[in-house]
Amino acid sequence: MKFAILGSGTGSNAEAILKAYRAGTLGKAEPVAIFCDIPGAKILSHGETYGVPATFLDPGPFKTKFSPEREAAYAEAIKAAGADWIVLAGFMRVLKAPLLEAFPDRIINLHPSLLPSFPGLDGIGQAWRYGVAVSGCTVHYVNSAVDGGAIIDQAVVRREKTDTPESFAQKIHAAEHKILPDVIRRISLGEA
Ligand code: GAR
Repeated sequence: MKFAILGSGTGSNAEAILKAYRAGTLGKAEPVAIFCDIPGAKILSHGETYGVPATFLDPGPFKTKFSPEREAAYAEAIKAAGADWIVLAGFMRVLKAPLLEAFPDRIINLHPSLLPSFPGLDGIGQAWRYGVAVSGCTVHYVNSAVDGGAIIDQAVVRREKTDTPESFAQKIHAAEHKILPDVIRRISLGEA
């Protein structure tokens, strides 16, 4: 299972995946490339650290989606890198036909809430403001519905009385760093 990681920001989840690969705990999965839609984003530096090619690719002029030509260019670049799967790890753009059709049922996404609650932007903040007692994170297949594809796995995080928005977010991120490499490992071994 050769996969590309797509991300837009800090890349702490990309780093967790690369660490798991280095530690030999990613099953038969191998990260072969990182692509990022934000020039200079920190995720690119993790590629350097772990020896995985990391590239900024122009997504086109829109904020939350690709232009069709640029999405086709992403699909081509990902295939050229040798990837047959895509892992969205903090990638803040909606995918449409060019990528969905190039990688049918082979794109997974990490979302920082227990879907179907709190889809879209700022899943952690949405859950905090709602006042939930539990939230967490979800790994799911990507289809044309935003955060709407089949759920592969979820991890639950409790909101304690002593939590602040920051500590709550930290706990969710810690859960993400475990669940995403684990799902990748299980998919690669045919266990998910
Ligand atoms: C993660 O919390 C991820 O779940 C979220 O962005 C963060 C990226 O962190 N993704 C989404 O909200 C997607 N809709 P990272 O760049 O440190 O991995």
